[in-house]
Amino acid sequence: MKQRENFSSKLGIIVATAGSALGLGNIYRFPCEAGANGGGAFLIVYLITALLIGTPLMISEFIIGRRSRSNPIGAFRTLSGKKSAWPVVGYLGVLCAFLILAFYTTVAGWTLGYLGKSAANHFAGQDLTQIQAQFISFTNHPWLPVACQLAFLALTAFVVARGVKDGIEKWSKILMPLLLVIMVVLCINSLTLSGAKEGLRFFFNPDFSKINGRVLISALGQSFFSLSIGMGALITYGSYIGSKDNMVSSATGVVLADTLVAVLAGIIIFPAAFTYGIQPEAGASLAFTTLPMVFQQMTGGYFFCLIFFLLLVIATLTSTISLLEVIVAALTEETHLSRPVAAIIGAAGTAVIGVLATLSFRTGSSLHIGGSTVFDLLDHMTASYFMPIGGLLIVLFVGWVMKRADAMDELTNGGTLRSGLRKVIYCIIRYLAPVAITVIFISQLVR
Ligand code: PHE
Repeated sequence: MKQRENFSSKLGIIVATAGSALGLGNIYRFPCEAGANGGGAFLIVYLITALLIGTPLMISEFIIGRRSRSNPIGAFRTLSGKKSAWPVVGYLGVLCAFLILAFYTTVAGWTLGYLGKSAANHFAGQDLTQIQAQFISFTNHPWLPVACQLAFLALTAFVVARGVKDGIEKWSKILMPLLLVIMVVLCINSLTLSGAKEGLRFFFNPDFSKINGRVLISALGQSFFSLSIGMGALITYGSYIGSKDNMVSSATGVVLADTLVAVLAGIIIFPAAFTYGIQPEAGASLAFTTLPMVFQQMTGGYFFCLIFFLLLVIATLTSTISLLEVIVAALTEETHLSRPVAAIIGAAGTAVIGVLATLSFRTGSSLHIGGSTVFDLLDHMTASYFMPIGGLLIVLFVGWVMKRADAMDELTNGGTLRSGLRKVIYCIIRYLAPVAITVIFISQLVR
């Protein structure tokens, strides 16, 4: 059997998993969802689902990955026996990775475009109407957004083709902490704006009467999306974790860091939105209009803007890498394709649907299915259906199908780590997480 690569250190899993988790989900999608779902009410449900369901689910994926040392399809086959239907969960995960990558690279392309715009100083001295017009003219440009998307996919394929350790670990190690630093600076800046009070009230003051089925499933979907869980990306990364690594502390660290970055993004964006008169429900354009407005009024704005978009591109790249890695690990292990060929096939396949998602953003585009754009449809399908269902099946698998002794063996590294806390985690995986996911999932259906 081929020797599989592992991450080189404990820092390796944390860095790679955080690289996967941190990305557009935190900085673009989180404010967008929070803005559309009542701000504070959304935040509260988000925090509960990320910490209470997200952490055990992330650990469950690590358990399945490390125990099987395989891609999501092979993992369920190895752990449940040849005749079982569980590998279907792995296939669904790979399909989900493919669908997410398709629409994710639309926005990833925008980040590249906006990096170019910030280098060319396009935001200086512009007012809100002009910055909004720039977003519309960029997304409507005949070829630019598609070219940016394809360039992003090519870059992702290039890194993935070179392999897990070289490609993935190296990128994230220095740049993720740097992103955190620049976000703290932006936060402090936002707190000095005239709309800070109103923005913070919107974001932190929960109006509990706003919590309904839609808010619940949006927050659950957002937490799964942001943490990269429920579709096998972290089964794949889990399969590269060393046998001595502490998966509980790694998962907890990543969840906390990811949540922190999402909350920071909210503190940056909402005060600014209220200051400049941008609707918090603005949707796709929220981050791409608010942030340039912030930069153009800041001292040293040109410099901050450039560094910010550069780091955002990199944070996004470490996420697209993890999505393509799911497809590539499955293709190389389930067939005999080599890594570079699998990376090219995966990226080319994604490009076909991805370009449709990008084109569906154009004003007057006919790329609508059932009233929503291809982009929104892919986003909604994956976050509200694929990931919650995938997540439910993953915790059920670890809690009820795997032997308790095997799961505990992974949780405690063969009995060498203290087991008290880990027994509690096992109970959450077995009882609490499946019930909570089911209740939230059903609440959207009986809305
Ligand atoms: N978690 C990533 C983000 O927040 C997106 C992602 C989803 C990556 C699912 C991998 C798997 O940007």
